[in-house]
Amino acid sequence: MTGKSKWDAARHVSVAHARTLEPKPVRDSQSEITQMVLPNDGNPMGNILGGMVMHQVDIVAAIAAGRHSGSYVVTASMDHMDFRVPIRVGEIIILRASVNRAFKTSMEVGVKVYREGVYNRTSEHTSSAYLTFVAVDDDGNPREVPPVITETDDEKRRFREAGQRRERRLADSAAKKNKLNQREKRGVR
Ligand SMILES: CC(C)(COP(=O)(O)OP(=O)(O)OC[C@H]1O[C@@H](n2cnc3c(N)ncnc32)[C@H](O)[C@@H]1OP(=O)(O)O)[C@@H](O)C(=O)NCCC(=O)NCCS
Repeated sequence: MTGKSKWDAARHVSVAHARTLEPKPVRDSQSEITQMVLPNDGNPMGNILGGMVMHQVDIVAAIAAGRHSGSYVVTASMDHMDFRVPIRVGEIIILRASVNRAFKTSMEVGVKVYREGVYNRTSEHTSSAYLTFVAVDDDGNPREVPPVITETDDEKRRFREAGQRRERRLADSAAKKNKLNQREKRGVR
């Protein structure tokens, strides 16, 4: 087959339409996934696997970052994650993502995970995670993203704290790179 399919063309048109560097409110890109935990998602004790939760966290966060930036995005990093409460097979898992802050080409996205009973509808916060996504062009090169507009007190706090986390993240990443370079120079595998 030669040339681009109609799906390729539609994809490029919709991305081109969505792309603007105008500041956007956090609420415009907030994203949510709700799913039932099925037996295939679980460990032998009947709790969802941590890796399954991380997979869904990555997806819901990528949706929020993609909506905010109007671009394809790649995960640059995911911060530490604790699983405080198990989510059982047969329960509902809910993941909510918001872009906390946009920098030049990267965005910090916060995700909160909840479990919900099927019949009693009580929900409980089980984990949180912060991820950094980078918006990329068709060649995979980083591209600029619009700033976020924070409206609520929580959004303003998350925006402030995202700046502090970014400083720590970049310092950690630079220290790791440095260590790897030194090991390579010494020929350590
Ligand atoms: C993420 C990626 C695009 C960064 O590319 P790069 O050439 O290092 O680009 P730069 O150094 O210019 O950094 C681009 C942005 O990413 C941020 N960044 C890079 N590494 C990061 C990290 N480990 N954690 C957080 N942010 C990071 C930079 O701070 C910069 O943000 P800013 O423009 O808002 O200031 C590139 O490393 C990549 O493609 N990685 C693979 C991503 C991927 O495939 N993920 C899926 C799982 S494998």
